[in-house]
Amino acid sequence: MADIQNLESLQTPGAVFFIFGATGDLARRKLFPAIYSLYKEGKLAEDFAVIGVARRPRSQEEFRDDVHRSIEEFCRYKVEDATNWTQFVEHFFYKSLDINNIDGYHELRDLTETVEARFEIPGNRLFYLALSPELFGSVSYNLQKGGMLSSAGWHRLVIEKPFGYDLLSAQKLNEELNQVFKEEEIYRIDHYLGKEMVQNIEVIRFANAFFEPLWNNKHIANIQITLSETVGVEERGGYYDHSGALRDMGQNHMLQMLTMIAMEAPSRLFPEDIRDEKVKVLRSLRPYASAAEVKENVVRGQYAPGESRGKSLLGYRQEDKVAPDSNTETYFAAKVLVDNFRWAGVPFYIRTGKRLPVKTTEVVVEFKQMPTNVYLGQKHTLEPNLLVIRVNPMEGIYIKINAKKPGSESKIEPLAMEFCQSCQVGINSPEAYERLIHDAANGDSTYFTRWDEVATAWAFVDRIAAAWGQNPSDISSYPAGSWGPEEADELLAKDGFHWWPVNGQEEDDVVWIKS
Ligand code: BG6
Repeated sequence: MADIQNLESLQTPGAVFFIFGATGDLARRKLFPAIYSLYKEGKLAEDFAVIGVARRPRSQEEFRDDVHRSIEEFCRYKVEDATNWTQFVEHFFYKSLDINNIDGYHELRDLTETVEARFEIPGNRLFYLALSPELFGSVSYNLQKGGMLSSAGWHRLVIEKPFGYDLLSAQKLNEELNQVFKEEEIYRIDHYLGKEMVQNIEVIRFANAFFEPLWNNKHIANIQITLSETVGVEERGGYYDHSGALRDMGQNHMLQMLTMIAMEAPSRLFPEDIRDEKVKVLRSLRPYASAAEVKENVVRGQYAPGESRGKSLLGYRQEDKVAPDSNTETYFAAKVLVDNFRWAGVPFYIRTGKRLPVKTTEVVVEFKQMPTNVYLGQKHTLEPNLLVIRVNPMEGIYIKINAKKPGSESKIEPLAMEFCQSCQVGINSPEAYERLIHDAANGDSTYFTRWDEVATAWAFVDRIAAAWGQNPSDISSYPAGSWGPEEADELLAKDGFHWWPVNGQEEDDVVWIKS
């Protein structure tokens, strides 16, 4: 197996990429642009093809026009000239398919073989299902039955979240997939793991002598993970009302980020070694023992009408395709404990919500206080040191330290030193999907979730959902555009902490030094 550091420079092996759901939003916004970026950067050579699959009839030209529009609108590279474009788009084909009709798969196989012969592709096939999850099982089955998995090369299945609705449904889905694909052929996407700064967490932690020795319960007071969004449910009310923030963001993105922060250093940088360490964190999460414990440690909220920047906003229950008496949570915050030697006693506070004041993904590591007796007699208390990892939309890190105010006799002031990755001229951060498609084609599953991770995360989340289910209407509301229910502040206040400001909402008394 290749070392992941060496995969960086690898050109993707010749393969056909099948995009099921090729006329959908994900393909248009993320997948076509990602494939174009990989091509522009030389990570895809000429021995590749994309076959778009969807029910809708579409001619080859119409499909290629769709791809062009998507790249113009969403790709970080623009189409430079006609020659370059023609050379690229010649690799794109479209097949209209009723996914339940086996004959259609036979036609798809014939088309694939022609395309493989034309571009000298050695039978490697990557099936990307950008489809509704209830179709994953039947499409996999039909791929096999329709002869799509009998070529000489490798076959891989890439699927989007949600992977099930709870542990039981996830197990059922997994069993269906396993009838066709082996675990090592299944690439479960969690697009947060494709984000540049989420991957950087590993490097920051394990490549810096500054941090690793301090990364434990002796030195860290608490860790805060915030995934806040300004959007509401938009046009996804139908899906979201059955899901809610816990399932939509908690079971996957939030717990995955927590594993990256809390995992032990892997013995080697091989995918399975890294995923072994991640799943150990999930297994160490302390389960809430009762509904009362859930209530004490987990806050749920739903946005009510409110306003943001002078614009009035609907409440969740007024949104399209949402039940007018819905009790689905659009916000949750939790205090999570990781019961192992490194983290015993350190609370991880996680929160996510829609219609919050800013869009941001950030991790704040708050270090324990220094013995302040050295500074007794000062008129102020020392601020704790912070390490803040900004994932999105700003990318970078900053550390907050205490230093002597220049010119004063001994006044100490907090100083934030920032490395702003996204401010660097010329840094054009790859999109999560570029990295993930490239990795899947190279057989690197590091940043995809393994079945045991998914199952363990569901087992943790199911307990919360079950406790909420006992008393569905026990949900707090918060005005759209605010920071969520007050109980989320109390959750930290009970332990003597508070949420640190996020997304550059700088505190008044801090001196900033920016890169
Ligand atoms: C998706 C959720 O997985 O992640 C959405 O289903 C959410 O509800 C989105 O808006 C957030 O992703 P990002 O990359 O914009 O932070």
